[in-house]
Amino acid sequence: MSSGKDLTEIRREYAAEELHMSDLAADPVAQFAQWQQQMAKLDPEDSTSMVLATASSDGCPSARIVLLKHFDSDGFCWYTDYLSQKGEELDGNPQAELLFYWRMLERQVRIWGTVERLPRAEAERYFSQRPRGSQLSAAASVQSSVVSGRSELEQRYQALDQRYQQETIPCPENWGGYRLLPQRFEFWQGRPNRLHDRIVYSQQLEGWQRVRITP
Ligand SMILES: Cc1cc2nc3c(=O)[nH]c(=O)nc-3n(C[C@H](O)[C@H](O)[C@H](O)COP(=O)(O)O)c2cc1C
Repeated sequence: MSSGKDLTEIRREYAAEELHMSDLAADPVAQFAQWQQQMAKLDPEDSTSMVLATASSDGCPSARIVLLKHFDSDGFCWYTDYLSQKGEELDGNPQAELLFYWRMLERQVRIWGTVERLPRAEAERYFSQRPRGSQLSAAASVQSSVVSGRSELEQRYQALDQRYQQETIPCPENWGGYRLLPQRFEFWQGRPNRLHDRIVYSQQLEGWQRVRITP
């Protein structure tokens, strides 16, 4: 048994805000933008970190943090390595979920949808804006593959640093972006006594439909 604090004693009350259907935008992307901007004022970096949950084609789930780089009615985008575990899973099963936990606002947003790769030109454009060190790391690493040790990675990084001294570092072939095309959103607001507010938007032929669900 752990000698630390009994975890069942850790409790938090949620009372920051209320969520009324009538206050929400009809379009969930506009609603997301409003919440994301509120969060960005409090903490710009944490407003874009999100859990990306994928599943292999035989149904094994996996989740990790990635950074949201842009979003609009065409989808929610991030960049990564296509050869990573998430990349392989998305190749076999394009269904995924994005989850934002905005602790300071006592909010959670979940977005489900189908994922597709961004055009190569968009990856190249974004890659060219990244700091040189991040570009070198992306080129030095096939994400999620086994490496003999930290020194192997650092040698690869140094070798690329030497090779591209004054040159532009090309965007690796296996590096690129994804877009999740949303089909369902859930906006969660913490409330007293765990009687939380949860509003779900789902895409129907006639447009976005909203319902309240139980906590
Ligand atoms: C704050 C934070 C931001 C991250 N942003 C990204 C990102 O934008 N893209 C990415 O590929 N990995 C990002 N990572 C690393 C991923 O969480 C993960 O380790 C990596 O993508 C490999 O995941 P996979 O093996 O499941 O494919 C981030 C991690 C943290 C903690």
